[in-house]
Formats: sequence, C-alpha cells, structure tokens
Amino acid sequence: MRAVGVEDFGGPEALQVFEVAEPHAGPGEVRIRVRAATVNPTDTGLRAGWYGPRLNDQQPPYIPGMDAAGVIDEVGDGSTTVDGTPWQLGDEVMAIVLPTEPRKGAYAEQIVVPAASVARLPKGTDAVAASGLPMNGLTARVALDELGLRPGQTIAVTGAAGAFGGYIVQLAKADGLRVIADASEADEQLVRDLGADDVVRRGDDVADRIRALVPEGVDGLADGAVQSELVVDAIADGGGMAVVRGWNGDPGRGITVHKIMVFGHARDQEALDTLRQRVEDGVVTLRVAQTFPAEQAAEAHRTLEAGGVRGRLVLTFD
Ligand SMILES: NC(=O)c1ccc[n+]([C@@H]2O[C@H](COP(=O)([O-])OP(=O)(O)OC[C@H]3O[C@@H](n4cnc5c(N)ncnc54)[C@H](OP(=O)(O)O)[C@@H]3O)[C@@H](O)[C@H]2O)c1
Repeated sequence: MRAVGVEDFGGPEALQVFEVAEPHAGPGEVRIRVRAATVNPTDTGLRAGWYGPRLNDQQPPYIPGMDAAGVIDEVGDGSTTVDGTPWQLGDEVMAIVLPTEPRKGAYAEQIVVPAASVARLPKGTDAVAASGLPMNGLTARVALDELGLRPGQTIAVTGAAGAFGGYIVQLAKADGLRVIADASEADEQLVRDLGADDVVRRGDDVADRIRALVPEGVDGLADGAVQSELVVDAIADGGGMAVVRGWNGDPGRGITVHKIMVFGHARDQEALDTLRQRVEDGVVTLRVAQTFPAEQAAEAHRTLEAGGVRGRLVLTFD
C-alpha cells in the first residue's frame, strides 16, 4: 500500500510516496481504508525533524498525519464503538492518529489505530470534511476542560481563524462562555460567524485590545496563535492560559499555564464521539480549504507553511 512520508527529514520536497507493507489490525484495533488525511502544523514539524528523538522506535519512512477519515476494512478482536458494539467492516469513521507511535501517521492508504481512537463520521458529512475534526477538535475540548471555566465567564482566543482556535470559539460558546476572539480585518466576519461575541484585531498588542474590552482581564485564554508572553497580560489575576506549544514562561499573578498535549487523549473515544454529536447538532462546523491528491503532499505542506490558510488542507487517497 502507498504511504507518504520522509526517509530524511527536510523541506516539503523531502516528502515522497513509498510502497510499504499492508498493516493488519490486532486485538483492540481497526484498520481504516483512508480516504482523507489532514495536513496540520505538526506534520510539517515531523517532516522537518522536530520529533526526531521520539521516532527512534521507527524505521524510515517516517509518516506524518494526525487525523484521517475513511472506511473500516479490518476489525481486530474486541474492537468496539463507543456504545460497546463491535466495529463493522464498511463503517464510515474518523480517527485521531499518533505518528510517533510504531504504527506511524495518517498519510497512508491504510492505517491501523486503536478502536478507541475512532468515531463514526458525523451524519451529513463526508470523509474529507470530517477528517479535520478529530485532532484539533479534541485539542480544543481538552484545552477548555483544563481551563475549567464556568458559564458566564470570559475566554479570549488567539489564532481564532485557525483550526484549533475556531473549534475553541464554537465549543466555548456552547459551554456558555463569553468569547473574545482575535482576527485580521480580512478574517473578522469569519470569526464572528464562528460565534465570537467580540472580535479584536490580531497582532502583538492583542492583549491591550482585550483589556480595553475587559479591564479586569479575561478568566481564561486559549493561545492558538502561540503568542505566549505577548498575550498573557490579557488574563485576570488567578486566571488560566492554555498553551499548545509548551510555553515555559511564568506569568505570575496566580495565573495557571495549562500545557495542552492531545497525544494523551487519543483514546478518549467518548470525547471523540461527543465531537461527532456537536457537528450533527450544528455547534461545530467543518472547514476544508483545499484537497490535494496524496502524491501532492509536498505542495500541501508548502501551502500550509505559506500561512493564511483558512480551513484545513486535506490529502485524498482514491
Ligand atoms: N499541543 C497539542 O496537542 C496541539 C494540538 C493541535 C494543535 N497544536 C498547535 O496549535 C497551533 C494552532 O494549530 P492550528 O492547526 O489551529 O493552526 P492554524 O490553522 O494555522 O491556525 C493558527 C492561526 O493563528 C494565526 N497566527 C499565527 N501567528 C500569529 C500571530 N503572530 N499573531 C496572530 N495570529 C497568528 C494564523 O494566521 P496566519 O495563517 O495568517 O498565519 C492562524 O489563523 C499550532 O501551533 C499547532 O501545532 C497543538
């Protein structure tokens, strides 16, 4: 079967198509015939070598990709849905994938994942649309849960037009929070349409703009733009900050920094299935920017790295 990855870490041009052995599902696992795999910032990182030491248990090619959607085509013993019923051949599903694990990433015609990393596609969607939900949707859910805000409290979101930030805006609204989101002028309507109560101009001075709206500071902040020390002043004393790239700063003022790592939540089947429900309820929308045949993964990586992509880039395996 075909997989897309790198033998040597490098730029987008390092990505190649490889013929690799067909994987098989063991106990507690399913195999998915992948139709769509998303391209995320972490994939460009894996390709460039950021995860080098964590891939030591693997032999090249190293295969990126943290979420996929497709059809189950092999079921291991004891592999069940969230309801406890066995997964069936032909079930249409989405999955979060951990490319640092021995089974490698999602850029492949067939992937084997733990059954607990799999949920049904939301009704009314297809594999391309749904493939962008598992990883960033779960990350957003985890960030909100760790911030632990109560209905009526205020959250600020940076990078709100992005995948993680957009899910935060929508899930936070559904949680009853007041949402202040950043946006460029061009993205302002997009971020309002996601449901933000207030939109402030993005940039290095975004904390001042948030404070202008909420003088006492926000109760929590989700930092999808990875601005770290530039945004911490927006947070009230005793508030919380969810960081997605492991910031080690100490903001003081009793502010808790929550280092969000979705890797530890990849088998939370119930959370994944709740995201499915959120899409079916119209709370969460799925945004696809562009699809690329998997052979054009290098072009997809160049497009992502150029910035300004709104909605996910998706590789397709026909
Ligand atoms: N720790 C985890 O488990 C985990 C899981 C998922 C994601 N992440 C991380 O979360 C981050 C967001 O991921 P994503 O998929 O949402 O990325 P994305 O779709 O590219 O969104 C990032 C958003 O932030 C904006 N942005 C970038 N730099 C900015 C700046 N200096 N000021 C204001 N806005 C800025 C981007 O705008 P432009 O496009 O115009 O640059 C974009 O709208 C990434 O760093 C990703 O690696 C971590």
